[in-house]
Amino acid sequence: MEREKFSSRLGFILISAGCAIGLGNVWRFPYITGKYGGAAFVLIYLFFLIVMGLPIMVMEFAVGRASQKSIATSFNVLEKKGSKWHIYRYFGMAGNYLLMMFYTTIGGWMLAYFVKMIKGDFKGLDAAGVEQAFGSLTTDLGTMLFWMLLVVVIGFAICSLGLQSGVERITKGMMVILLLLMIVLAVNSCLLPGGTEGLEFYLKPDFGKLTEYGLSEVIFAAMGQAFFTLSLGIGALAVFGSYIGKERKLTGEAVNILVLDTFVALTAGLIIFPACSAFGVDPGEGPGLVFVTLPNVFNNMKGGRFWGSLFFLFMTFAALSTIIAVFQNIISFAQDLWNWSLKKAVLINGAAIAILSLPCIFGMTIWSDFSILGKSILDFEDFLVSNNMLPLGSLVYLLFCVTRYGWGWKNFLKEANTGEGISFPKKIKVYLTFILPIIVLYIFVQGYISLFKSL
Ligand code: ALA
Repeated sequence: MEREKFSSRLGFILISAGCAIGLGNVWRFPYITGKYGGAAFVLIYLFFLIVMGLPIMVMEFAVGRASQKSIATSFNVLEKKGSKWHIYRYFGMAGNYLLMMFYTTIGGWMLAYFVKMIKGDFKGLDAAGVEQAFGSLTTDLGTMLFWMLLVVVIGFAICSLGLQSGVERITKGMMVILLLLMIVLAVNSCLLPGGTEGLEFYLKPDFGKLTEYGLSEVIFAAMGQAFFTLSLGIGALAVFGSYIGKERKLTGEAVNILVLDTFVALTAGLIIFPACSAFGVDPGEGPGLVFVTLPNVFNNMKGGRFWGSLFFLFMTFAALSTIIAVFQNIISFAQDLWNWSLKKAVLINGAAIAILSLPCIFGMTIWSDFSILGKSILDFEDFLVSNNMLPLGSLVYLLFCVTRYGWGWKNFLKEANTGEGISFPKKIKVYLTFILPIIVLYIFVQGYISLFKSL
């Protein structure tokens, strides 16, 4: 059967951006930035996005487009006979599942907040009341289960409509409105009385702050965030490469996606940090940051209930666009590897994801005493994905594309540079082959050392 393709270039860019843009930008980026001290962290993060994220994104697209397959069989198509790169598919897929194991829960919070906003649940609450409302949600097993399951059902329902009429049509519209809405809210937040201090924290680097956690832990976190925000290393972007034609070179497409993703993350910061200082919320508050800050903003804004509802609706969309993309990858994996029908792949994976999402919710409720390496289940799952599977998976794509043991530099370059647009720079081969892998591994090892030291 001919592989279904995206109907347009814009569709491809917005959907890949949709896969990249998500909770990572609006939920994780602000709270990690808050935790690790603001502007100086942001600079390190941007550095990693460009020097690591960008080339690896091009490589994923190239592997997807050249093989016309998802991660299930893409390595088989491109690797040399007898080599074993394809085994990575199981780790990559595990990364997709693990990402969804907590993502569906946070997506559920967004949806719950959308409904709460419409109902006017936050009206009249002060900052402490808003914080308490978040606390009640995240200790309520039944409610969290409900929202998580709803998110899973919506995500798989959209995927079951097929690539063009489901994934592409729905994500495209969501992304455009999201971008516009974020600009309006950022302007509003920056004008809040008392917001300047938050803006300074976010935009004026204070390198002294980095030493609080230790530089290696901060760098480790920045690297994790860069990989997380682009969903690199688990084939989630590669699969979209398999749905496009050869009209455009891949570097230009990757730059577009990176710019959109960074725009959303930075704008999310502009919405949240001024609000922190205006309403006395600690930016280092952790995973609840967006949920305990923003209802205050909307409470104090003209037409706040309307804007608040819109905001959480579109945050839900942002989360869904990633969820749909990852589900699409998971479904496509089963179709490519085991020849499952779309329906079978949707039903079995839907059930699996729903069950696998339970521990994260239990970790906040009935298993709340339980911790691993000093982390809650949510944080631990996130740590496994962001600081382990994504960087190491990215390394696999990198080595596959640059060494002669894998697909090889020439083949990669030819694929990346087929079509119109910006070429992938040939000159950086030495950097990609000998320097980048060492940097990733070094940061990885250092990050672990500082993690264990802090226990
Ligand atoms: N890239 C996805 C996000 O940022 C995982 O949410």
